[in-house]
Amino acid sequence: MTSKPPAGLDAAAFMRSHWQREPLLVRKAFPGFSDPLSPREVLALAGDPDATSRLVRRRGTAYSLEHGPISPSRFQQLPRRDWTVLVQDTNHFSPGARELLARFDFIPHARIDDVMVSYAAPGGSVGPHVDSYDVFLLQGHGRRRWQISRQEDHRFVPGIDLKILERFTADEEWVLEAGDMLYLPPGIAHHGVAESECLTWSIGFRAPTDAELVTGFLDFLRDRLAPAGQYRDPGAAPARHPGEIPPGLVAHAASAMESIHWNGALLREFTGRFLSEPKAHVYFTPPNRPLTRAQFAREAARRGVALDPRSRLMFSGTMFFLNGEAAEVPAKARAMLQSLADGRRIAGPVEAPREFWDVTHGWYLQGYAHAGETP
Ligand code: SIN
Ligand code: CO
Repeated sequence: MTSKPPAGLDAAAFMRSHWQREPLLVRKAFPGFSDPLSPREVLALAGDPDATSRLVRRRGTAYSLEHGPISPSRFQQLPRRDWTVLVQDTNHFSPGARELLARFDFIPHARIDDVMVSYAAPGGSVGPHVDSYDVFLLQGHGRRRWQISRQEDHRFVPGIDLKILERFTADEEWVLEAGDMLYLPPGIAHHGVAESECLTWSIGFRAPTDAELVTGFLDFLRDRLAPAGQYRDPGAAPARHPGEIPPGLVAHAASAMESIHWNGALLREFTGRFLSEPKAHVYFTPPNRPLTRAQFAREAARRGVALDPRSRLMFSGTMFFLNGEAAEVPAKARAMLQSLADGRRIAGPVEAPREFWDVTHGWYLQGYAHAGETP
């Protein structure tokens, strides 16, 4: 079961006309929106060493960046205006942020980056910039003025840690209030300035570049290749030009490359592993005193089964991929594992074939899934 899209957003029409194409402002996309985390909770999360956070300060048109964790004492030193704190991956920490993300289930999970939140003091901004991501900018507490530009000049201010556009000429602008949402495809320049203290939730979707896919695939292939041959040159004539690479050696290199083979199944396996790979800082904690297979099946059948908030589970055909690994899945477990991949959890009571519990118990032992709700 998947959640409903935001109000006023017809998923089919949106995907056809706006996704990857055109910005879209949706007023009251989340009527009566209540922030998954309060401003105080966002600032507390920015101090958590497990979270990825940044502080951006603005002085006139100059911006500076500090990397988190950001301690409460650091916040006390800041002025009343003109700064922003950004926290990535709030869906890893907040059930409310996960529910928010589920409202975008009309977009494949393979495209998900994260739910980022920004807390801004009045006047706070991260500066005009462009992203390579599709993003839904959902306004929470407070008000933010967004300006966008279709300009093609994407030159950044040189020599700073932040990507700030050197020149920004707005062609449209709006003030967003709680529950309003602005969708931006990649490459649309934008600049958001807090009109009051505010929270903005960025539901971000990424797409792999071809350079990432190709280098990733070459790494994947390298780990699987074990070419056995070696160049040999018995009976070679004395070298007339010792500086010259023997033509036979060049020809041998070419024939060695013929041992590089792949097929559709290998490509699919690579793609699944690549897309389900967690972010570099993510690690999973196996249970301290793990339940046996039978205890787990009993417990999860009663209370339901849920993916860990950091897990990325997806499938392609009959293949399943979880957190960068290809999972062996018996045919009898497939349908229920597809439901788990779609919904990220299955509410209890759960009636499932034995094979489903075999697979999910294995995932539970690695910290990838849990019995009941996520901890
Ligand atoms: C913000 O929330 O201030 C920045 C979000 C973005 O521009 O992507
Ligand atoms: Co942006």
